[in-house]
Amino acid sequence: MITPNSSAPDGANSVLEIWGRHSLSGQVQISGAKNSALVVMAGALLCSQDCRIRNIPSLVDVARMGEVLLALGVKVEHSNDTLTIDSTHLSHSRAPYELVSQLRASFFVIGPLLARLGVARVPLPGGCAIGARPVDLHVRGLRAMGAEVHIDHGTVHACVRGSRGRLQGARIYLDYPSVGATETLMMAATLADGETIIENAAQEPEVVDLANFCRAMGARIRGAGTNTITISGVPSLHSTDYSIIPDRIEAGTFLIAAAITGSEITLSPVIPDHLTAVIAKLREAGAEIIPEVHNRLRIKAGPQILATDTQTRPFPGFPTDMQAQFMALMTLSNGNSMITETVFENRLRHVGELVRMGADIRMKGNCAIVRGVPCLAGAPVTATDLRASAALVIAGLAAEGKTQIQGLQHLDRGYDNLEHKLQQLGAKLQRIQAETTDEVAQPAEATVTTAAGE
Ligand code: UD1
Repeated sequence: MITPNSSAPDGANSVLEIWGRHSLSGQVQISGAKNSALVVMAGALLCSQDCRIRNIPSLVDVARMGEVLLALGVKVEHSNDTLTIDSTHLSHSRAPYELVSQLRASFFVIGPLLARLGVARVPLPGGCAIGARPVDLHVRGLRAMGAEVHIDHGTVHACVRGSRGRLQGARIYLDYPSVGATETLMMAATLADGETIIENAAQEPEVVDLANFCRAMGARIRGAGTNTITISGVPSLHSTDYSIIPDRIEAGTFLIAAAITGSEITLSPVIPDHLTAVIAKLREAGAEIIPEVHNRLRIKAGPQILATDTQTRPFPGFPTDMQAQFMALMTLSNGNSMITETVFENRLRHVGELVRMGADIRMKGNCAIVRGVPCLAGAPVTATDLRASAALVIAGLAAEGKTQIQGLQHLDRGYDNLEHKLQQLGAKLQRIQAETTDEVAQPAEATVTTAAGE
């Protein structure tokens, strides 16, 4: 059983109190990438031997993915930051609804299940707080590879008839460079008969990490990290020992925490090439960012935060997973900035909560127009999704007085020991049981959330 290593009260029943306006200093250790860990765990199903995966972050989402694998008949052992996944006895083709509905990434098991067993039954991950998030691109690609796929009673049923139950290589053009669809199809293709070419593929570092993991198991994949990925199917994959990349979104979140608090900190390990767009925007915003040896990055905040416009884009563009945090920074800038969300249709729900803290933000469609204010004021606020919760932490670090954040179950899905890491840097914050607080905030607009976030 995998358990996140925090001994703090669980997210849904706790509140994070932050006393703002303390500067940060020192060095912070960046954990393994959540989105790599989740998809690599799914990828381990492709191998009928055991795989060791290192640098696994301690997160609720990782624990949930472990439960999905267990439900499929796979052995999962966890020791420190290492998982050993033994899929020798992968036997169940049905992923349980209760688990998939809590974690969108668990839908990614559909590719490996089809490739290994020739059959998969995976519930639709459903809507989530940041948008509708269909899986049509996954389904269309699997059909192009010869799978029969139908959706019945909320579950995707897929099977491969004939050809010894093996998928067939195909040329697949993705209408949009979806990270998840690229990963599903790449995994499915590793064990298919013949060659698969994915065009307009996602180029995110986590896609490359998954490709490297699959290659370490003997898969033949070329072009990961470009918009065309070619996979030549092999009959089987073998065991491996693999370490996943550092989390670029966690790193970006700490960079912004430093920029907004006027601080100087160092981060390691980081891969600066994974942060090109974030670094460029932070420099435009006045911060100095200095790459150092051994995958270390130093940030020194500028004397003031300069307003700059940002648009989210697929990699190498500015990541949608950094949009909320960057907006928090812009609330204290010296002018007006426009932040445009182009990847997900409903990912500006943190706006209302930032406004509660004194930010001046107006929304127009998928754009937020942020007019910088001289200061934010601590307030009770509610996190509406994972990165929104990080944005509120960042705002709280810079605000005057006390900020109380509830909805921490979102934060716990994706940040490994965030409070502890911030405390080590000198931030003043603590997690307490919800009932001991005197004020409870409701989200700024009526919202329905499910846990199946990014
Ligand atoms: C992954 C990341 C998430 C990140 C996102 C974009 C994981 C676990 N999550 O999510 O943190 O924010 O990439 O970088 O890796 N779409 C379709 N049809 C599909 C698939 C996607 O229309 O079949 C749309 C989505 O609704 C969304 C856009 O494509 O509007 C991008 O989605 P996608 O790249 O697939 O994101 P995820 O893989 O879900």
